[in-house]
Amino acid sequence: MARFIGTIEGEVKTTSFKILLSTSDVEKGSFVKINHEVYGWVLARIGGLKRYMQDGEEVLIADARTIGYKQNEQVLIPKSPFKPNEKVYSADKELIQNVMGLSKNRKNNIYLGLLEGHNIPVYLDIQKTIGKHVSVLAKTGAGKSYTVAVILEELLKNDIPIVVIDPHGEYSTLKYENDDYDAMLKFNVKPRSYRDKVKEYAANIIINPDADKLTLNPKFSLEELIDILPMRLTDKQKSIVYDALKRLEDKDYTIQDLINVVKLEKEKTKWKVISGLETLRNSGIFDGRPITEEDIVKEGQASIINLKGTEPQIQELIITKIARSLFNAAKSGLLPSFFFLVEEAHNFCPERGFGDVLSSNILRNIASEGRKFGFYLCVVSQRPARIDKNVLSQCNTQIILKVTNPNDLRAIGQSIEGFTSGMENDIRQLSVGQALVVGECVEQPITVNIRARETKHLSTVRIKEKITPMKRETGFIDKIKPIFLKDESELSERVDMEKIKIGLERSKRRKTLRDRIISIFLKDK
Ligand SMILES: Nc1ncnc2c1ncn2[C@@H]1O[C@H](COP(=O)(O)OP(=O)(O)O)[C@@H](O)[C@H]1O
Ligand SMILES: [Mg+2]
Repeated sequence: MARFIGTIEGEVKTTSFKILLSTSDVEKGSFVKINHEVYGWVLARIGGLKRYMQDGEEVLIADARTIGYKQNEQVLIPKSPFKPNEKVYSADKELIQNVMGLSKNRKNNIYLGLLEGHNIPVYLDIQKTIGKHVSVLAKTGAGKSYTVAVILEELLKNDIPIVVIDPHGEYSTLKYENDDYDAMLKFNVKPRSYRDKVKEYAANIIINPDADKLTLNPKFSLEELIDILPMRLTDKQKSIVYDALKRLEDKDYTIQDLINVVKLEKEKTKWKVISGLETLRNSGIFDGRPITEEDIVKEGQASIINLKGTEPQIQELIITKIARSLFNAAKSGLLPSFFFLVEEAHNFCPERGFGDVLSSNILRNIASEGRKFGFYLCVVSQRPARIDKNVLSQCNTQIILKVTNPNDLRAIGQSIEGFTSGMENDIRQLSVGQALVVGECVEQPITVNIRARETKHLSTVRIKEKITPMKRETGFIDKIKPIFLKDESELSERVDMEKIKIGLERSKRRKTLRDRIISIFLKDK
């Protein structure tokens, strides 16, 4: 039985009307239905609510907007208004799902969370959601990474290949089960680990010991190498680079080989080229067996490119190189469709005036052309105003969590078709874990309470806490000593203990070990 909530009151337009409510538990944003004499059940939504006293009695009035009814896969608005005094009911799940274009079952869809005010599961069509490129925008701590992880879990279940550019190293927790049982119960989610589906690569494997070493292919085209070298080259220098590449063309070469060939040049101007190549070589990301496009993009696998502990310039280089080679492979039809996630996107494709970085060009190309080759981009950022507008406007599925900064709200408004001041207000008022979903995957923008993760969430807030300096309490030295001085027996296998001992004896005469460690860490004391 549909729940009666009130009657239509006053002037009725086809697109908007007022409801005199007979119950006080109706919420802003909730869906209602009205039986139209010609078109049958029509869906509408509560905008604002008003309450006042009239003749000693409390009156509750709601503003409502007509959404429409479904006919031949289209949502239509009745051509004539509802009758005055028509009864209004709370909308049922079936009608909401039909008219709002939400899928009815979990299988083969993205289960994002529950529709606000109705607790109806929101299942989004995968193709309509990620196939249009996605942006996930919100202020820090509003739940971007959490929401993205939910999407990743859903894509992994459906064996869609994923590549994650992960500057904070926060996505490897997809390997661990969530232990927040209350939250999972609320969303009907079971803890799950995606350990066998997650492949983690890092440039810095010292601070990311669980990751495989990331090695990129040192093969470059001339334009690529000119772009990637950390300096501007003159025409003469470009031709030196060209000659060197030409000579090594058919070989499996390393950066060192390239340096050696350039060294054979007679011109003095070669030294600048060599120093650039040395920077590339010293980054270490070209050492070893390079990963191929097919290693990175694999059905049922999330490849996490963990950039934690990697210098910003090298981060840009890694993204550029990976994005380019994947884009070329996708264009040649060598890869299945895949999801490419860029966290902190404002750093990798900044808006003009906020710095120019190496990866900007390729990300712009992917945003405008990637879709047709199955290269689906997802950009995540806490500073929408600082992301390249061209990139942002190509992301036609928008997941917006709480934003309050006026510049960021403006940038979001500019990237969404039909953005209204009502939506801007809604975005300001969202709570953590709530998202406004806009795009082709929904008939109209909806607010979703994002479901609990199946896997553990590692908050970057907590990561930051972890790296704040340890309190200088007693026992501090004992905590850091093991990092430097492993068990002596372990050391002796790898290094010449005699030399170390002599060195230690010498220095002991000057300072105790404790003093030396203190002097390294507590210089400012
Ligand atoms: N959907 C959610 N359900 C439960 N907690 C959430 C949700 N979204 C965010 N949170 C909480 O908010 C914190 C910040 O979320 P996070 O996604 O890391 O923010 P950011 O937007 O900065 O990426 C998380 O550590 C988590 O505790
Ligand atoms: Mg985050």
